[in-house]
Amino acid sequence: MGNPAQLRDTFGRLHDNLRVSVTDRCNIRCYYCMPEHEVQFVPREEILTFEEIERFVRLAVSLGIRKVRVTGGEPLVRRNLHLLIRKLAAIPGLTDLALTTNGVLLREQAEPLYEAGLRRINIHLDTLDRNRFLRITRRDDFDRVLEGIETCRRLGYDPIKLNAVAVKDLTEPDVVPLARFGREKNIEIRFIEFMPLDAQGLWLRDKVLLADDIVQTISSEVCPLIEIPDRDPRAPATEYRYADGGGTVGFIASISKPFCLNCNRIRLTADGKLRYCLFAIEETDVKGLLRGAATEEEIARIIAEVVAAKWEGHEVNTARFVAPPRPMYAIGG
Ligand code: 5AD
Ligand code: SF4
Repeated sequence: MGNPAQLRDTFGRLHDNLRVSVTDRCNIRCYYCMPEHEVQFVPREEILTFEEIERFVRLAVSLGIRKVRVTGGEPLVRRNLHLLIRKLAAIPGLTDLALTTNGVLLREQAEPLYEAGLRRINIHLDTLDRNRFLRITRRDDFDRVLEGIETCRRLGYDPIKLNAVAVKDLTEPDVVPLARFGREKNIEIRFIEFMPLDAQGLWLRDKVLLADDIVQTISSEVCPLIEIPDRDPRAPATEYRYADGGGTVGFIASISKPFCLNCNRIRLTADGKLRYCLFAIEETDVKGLLRGAATEEEIARIIAEVVAAKWEGHEVNTARFVAPPRPMYAIGG
């Protein structure tokens, strides 16, 4: 038995990382995530309140969670998100608080979020071409995202990372411009292999632009990339550095190099379900416990049970794979 205040699964993996989705709503419609029309959102009363989220996170931290990432949908469409950030930033033992956003509302919100204690931010940016941005997201918000990135730089967010979803026959023209942009701004770009989590079921294995192919392209057209060997084995991104010292590029190669064996995460959805994997089919309700008369011990037991039930890893590369019933925006990326 390890320390009781630790979340260890039956494969020995220690869980110290929690992703909290604060809404399933989004102000843009990235085609690899959302349907274009008629999105079914969770009714507002089903969404956890900030007080419920804070209670859950405090409890999770008492069980060994050290890192929390706030996600969505798009977290900045949740009204007064900075108030939640302030509550979370004040939790003793929570050493690492981060946010993933599409950046559209950052121009206005980066400052209140920074004042509330946020320092780490990941921003989606799939392209530096305005028309391609419109095609990918079905919204004309490219300029706002760039301004949001600049606002974060000016305020001193550190680190700022950019996420780009890598889709074959689509992303290729964006790879080199994004890599150059990252070098110029001294921001890490991370390419995420397209995963079967889109709402429209468009994913196919041969629609994934593989990390190795992107490494080749950047190495030959921008600057040679060298894999960083001693990176954190529990971080999902494989990191490379430019041979000339011009920064780093990350790859989340969920399909070509699954990192499930090092997984340390659990996820809380906006409607209060706890999931042990992005691709999990089953999930466990905690909202009922938070809204009912459950004690801290009862909720702690449920969290430990979810971790204990965790599977070895996703089966995207096998014939057994079944896509999860919720798309990305409803899970929290
Ligand atoms: N495959 C890979 N990444 C995705 N994201 C959203 N949908 C997908 C998908 N189908 C990414 C977003 C965001 C992160 C939370 O998840 O770009 O950066
Ligand atoms: Fe919105 Fe993020 Fe999904 Fe894009 S990937 S539609 S920004 S939730």
